[in-house]
Amino acid sequence: MSAAYPIVHHEYDVVVVGAGGAGLRATVGLAQAGLKTANLTKVFPTRSHTVAAQGGISAALGNMGQDDWRWHMYDTVKGSDWLGDQDAIQYMCREAPAAVIELEHWGVPFSRTGEGKIYQRPFGGMTTNYGQGTAQRTCAAADRTGHAMLHSMYQQSLKNHAEFFIEYFALDLLTDADGSIHGVLAWDLSTGELHRFRAKMVILATGGYGRAYFSATSAHTCTGDGGGMALRAGIALQDMEFVQFHPTGIYGSGCLITEGARGEGGYLTNSKGERYMERYAPNAKDLASRDVVSRASTIEIREGRGVGEHADHVHLHLEHLGPEVLHKRLPGISETAKIFAGVDVTKEPIPVLPTVHYNMGGIPCNFHGETVSCTDGKTDVVIPGLMAVGEAACVSVHGANRLGSNSLLDLVVFGRAAAHRCAELIKPGDRHKTISNESEEKALARFDKLRHAKNGTLTTAKVRLDMQRTMQNHAAVFRTSKSLDEGVIKLKKDVESFRDVKVADSSLVWNSDLMETLELDNLLGQALVTITSAQNRKESRGAHAHEDFPERDDHEWMKHSIAWRTGETDVKLGYRPVHTWTLDDEMKYVEPKKRTY
Ligand code: FUM
Repeated sequence: MSAAYPIVHHEYDVVVVGAGGAGLRATVGLAQAGLKTANLTKVFPTRSHTVAAQGGISAALGNMGQDDWRWHMYDTVKGSDWLGDQDAIQYMCREAPAAVIELEHWGVPFSRTGEGKIYQRPFGGMTTNYGQGTAQRTCAAADRTGHAMLHSMYQQSLKNHAEFFIEYFALDLLTDADGSIHGVLAWDLSTGELHRFRAKMVILATGGYGRAYFSATSAHTCTGDGGGMALRAGIALQDMEFVQFHPTGIYGSGCLITEGARGEGGYLTNSKGERYMERYAPNAKDLASRDVVSRASTIEIREGRGVGEHADHVHLHLEHLGPEVLHKRLPGISETAKIFAGVDVTKEPIPVLPTVHYNMGGIPCNFHGETVSCTDGKTDVVIPGLMAVGEAACVSVHGANRLGSNSLLDLVVFGRAAAHRCAELIKPGDRHKTISNESEEKALARFDKLRHAKNGTLTTAKVRLDMQRTMQNHAAVFRTSKSLDEGVIKLKKDVESFRDVKVADSSLVWNSDLMETLELDNLLGQALVTITSAQNRKESRGAHAHEDFPERDDHEWMKHSIAWRTGETDVKLGYRPVHTWTLDDEMKYVEPKKRTY
């Protein structure tokens, strides 16, 4: 097989796959540590999906009132509906202020207070004094925070001489006979060449798989390629049933309107003009956590109080904020609303709808970024040679529901932690391990098969749309046993239909049809483990709202789901304990209680 594909060989200490916020932060740290680092990215780094992160990055800086990282930790544990690992959450919240100051020193142009400090806005679920007050904790560069961060981190990577392989699509992990990871096979989209990267560590920073759903704030590139590669390498994915719906995606297009809009004073109404969040979250109202607000909007629509011709969305009001605030704090979404909803936000409300936004689940990792496996339901075993960071990973700091602005934080804190761990584990002169022929042949065979799938009868777009509809209709904000059982059957058919996919053109140069087919393969695997994990979780927790089991059941279900894809449509499920301990006495375990806002 490899004779048919002349392969370009490379050797690096570390290969990072993905150049969004997590991948770039890891890349900077690795290059600074003197490790020979390659970053492979399917899009130009500053076009990675982090560019679309608007509202900000959380850190208890206390610039706009008293704050404490312990309050941030408490909010994050509560937001996670007690599925987050508390040692990892403590690590993230304690590191947050230093991580943001580092970004400031790297040139991120944060908005400023009158005194010149970093401006911080309120965000959902972020409180002071363990739930008593409203925190202003989210550090913002207007409503273009992710954009600003990406540019600064890419500049830092170049300054530190990291090597980038841009518009390279990672195809599969390369292993040795015992399953340890020793490299990646990648396809250079612009020349058509295949490249084999040997590495002592591969870090997957490939983002989420939002495009498994019909309507998502995620870019078309968000196909979770790392999760797809991990499943094919026999690695289980964790907590995949927890898919976050952002309350304010623009009706129709799905484009994000930042939670920062509600942080600045925006509010939601139904067809009667009622501010309905007052009924669902009497204290936090529109700044309750995302799962709570998305459920409330869905109920309003289901009960006939939606707005518009089909009564199928709600309104987000910003017009009372006035042009000056909108121009200064929310310029990006003012433009987005004009382009994608035809709305002048100074005069009229924006039509919005809960829209898929984030995957809490992903590749199971410890807080150093190392990938772990847990086959006996008790003990974590580190998988040699593989790390994951960012949305591709499940550390798990977000548990069953992520708080807004904890994502940008997660990227930089764990990107940095992974780089530090690599510097401890890897010596630049160390020899590379041998990649098994079987692993390389398997990766090439899959690529070759899809490349030559010219006799199929179904377009990639058709199979993808079927999968997206199944996920949207059967594993949405609310789930029932019936919707999930039917969804699993339908999704298995969607997966099987991929056998008949057609890729008309076998060219290797800029073959976007082939690339979308490879991406679809990644999406299908993740959709399958998502809906199967959801079918099996008989409780409601965070973003998994199961109408036949409406309560959280800590006795049975305070555990992480882990799911292996064992065959084309076969999934094996297991469970892994939630970390109910903290790192030290600076913060004690946050005991579970009923979650209200
Ligand atoms: O609403 C937002 O600005 C999104 C932020 C986030 O997902 O963290």
